[in-house]
Amino acid sequence: MAACVAENPVEHSYHIAQPQAVPACTVVIFGASGDLARRKLVPALYNLRACGQGMGHHEFAILGFARRPIAVDTFREQMRDAVAQYSRLELDDKCWHEFAERLDYLGGLDQPAGFDRLRMRLEQLEATYGLPPNRIYYLSIPPEGINEAVARLEQAGLIGRPGAPHFSRVVVEKPIGHDLESARETNRSILKHFAESQIFRIDHYLGKETVQNLLVLRFSNTIFERMWGARNVDHVQITVAESEGVGSRSMYYDPSGALRDMVQNHMLQLLALIAMEPPVSLEADAIRESKLNLLRALRPIAAGEAASQVVRGRYTSGTNDGQPVRGYLEEQGIPGNSRTETFVAIKGFIDNWRWAGVPFYLRTGKRMGARESLIHIQFKDLPRILFNRAGVLPANALTLRIQPDEGFSFAVLAKQPGLGVTISPVRMNLRYQSEFEGPVPDAYERLLLDVMAGDHTLFVSASFVEQSWAFVQSILDQWGSDYSIPLNEYRAGSMGPEAADRLIQADGRQWLTL
Ligand SMILES: NC(=O)c1ccc[n+]([C@@H]2O[C@H](COP(=O)([O-])OP(=O)(O)OC[C@H]3O[C@@H](n4cnc5c(N)ncnc54)[C@H](OP(=O)(O)O)[C@@H]3O)[C@@H](O)[C@H]2O)c1
Repeated sequence: MAACVAENPVEHSYHIAQPQAVPACTVVIFGASGDLARRKLVPALYNLRACGQGMGHHEFAILGFARRPIAVDTFREQMRDAVAQYSRLELDDKCWHEFAERLDYLGGLDQPAGFDRLRMRLEQLEATYGLPPNRIYYLSIPPEGINEAVARLEQAGLIGRPGAPHFSRVVVEKPIGHDLESARETNRSILKHFAESQIFRIDHYLGKETVQNLLVLRFSNTIFERMWGARNVDHVQITVAESEGVGSRSMYYDPSGALRDMVQNHMLQLLALIAMEPPVSLEADAIRESKLNLLRALRPIAAGEAASQVVRGRYTSGTNDGQPVRGYLEEQGIPGNSRTETFVAIKGFIDNWRWAGVPFYLRTGKRMGARESLIHIQFKDLPRILFNRAGVLPANALTLRIQPDEGFSFAVLAKQPGLGVTISPVRMNLRYQSEFEGPVPDAYERLLLDVMAGDHTLFVSASFVEQSWAFVQSILDQWGSDYSIPLNEYRAGSMGPEAADRLIQADGRQWLTL
């Protein structure tokens, strides 16, 4: 396997944009007693502030806010354990002590006076630490709590106008809606109280380094962009394979399924980034506009086509890492009559000049035989001339690995040394971890920092959310009304149902082997 030669990447780096200036602020974590706060948000904030060892030493206070009462000391202890377990940087006693001083907790979110107390506590914190009233409300609560939370923030006078000297911003987690109508409703209800410029809808995939690198790869390498489109590309595959099962998330997962959980957000984001037209600038609005336009060109799965263009599946018992595992219906908390899909594969088309006629194959599933997210761009076959007279040589392919081994590889053909002519496929392989030194920020660190800096580039617009739901809704409607569309079983540890293989094989193609 040949390695890509990148001569000392540090010496030859080109700084295009500095990390942004981040004003001092207070982050209020709604739902601070929950899983996301513990596993992701507080560890990410710790890393951002960690004694200057993190990605800068950002000036902020954190106020956990939830319904249940928790003594501040207990909350700090719980978060200390969370940081010890989940933080990218090791827990350091001195750093933790400094961090914990700025970490507070307030219960009573559901009490009549809860939001007035929130205002008073915020004012106290800001006075104690000399912070300006810049406020970020991170809604790490279930979707059903969002409408009330934003309305009560406004009633309590906690939302400043956009453009005011100090900012009020709200961060909204996925899922945004359960279907197109509820997504519109959620957007409407947040937009009643916050302007779009104050809203940050998170898709944590967009915070991943490799996802951000898609833009750099496409728009700073002439060779790729010139080949990007129907003239040179045979097809594109996007795979998000998970090896774990539903675990303890049955309450959340069973009403959703793979289409809502993965395709509506992460996979359509990847599709938009890989296929969009070059934005007119690197401004957030320009990038978001390009992505939205791409999604508008994604051909809806028309009535009657879900059976032939979409495959859904559900895992049965099998193995994971050599260990026997249960099937989906045997998982704890899953109702015996569940019809939820844990796998989905889609064949889609983008109806614009660049991509006309190029199929995009998407697949995602739980309990698959690999844990990997990648985008595979298969270029067109060589003409049947010269070395390829027999038509056996494989075409070039570019594979972008998003996780876990971030990087990309380019499959080319080369002559094996020797007297005859023997041609072998070789991979030019770049692994970020071995090529670049320095820490890779966790997606939530990056995204939290961008919220503080007010940069929307990596956040999802209301229109994108609704457009992506519109695509998914046409499939949901067909699944909901046509009971002849099968829910195909696949063995845990396999790469999905055979029907998914047939979907791509019918076009004379294969899924990439992971
Ligand atoms: N966990 C993840 O990895 C993950 C990943 C992506 C997105 N998300 C999303 O992030 C949000 C939080 O997830 P989570 O896993 O942390 O959930 P969780 O563990 O169930 O915690 C939810 C938190 O919200 C509070 N809460 C519950 N019902 C509420 C309501 N009606 N109004 C206000 N607060 C309420 C709960 O605390 P009290 O009972 O004390 O109020 C708790 O602190 C959800 O929208 C989830 O879909 C989570």
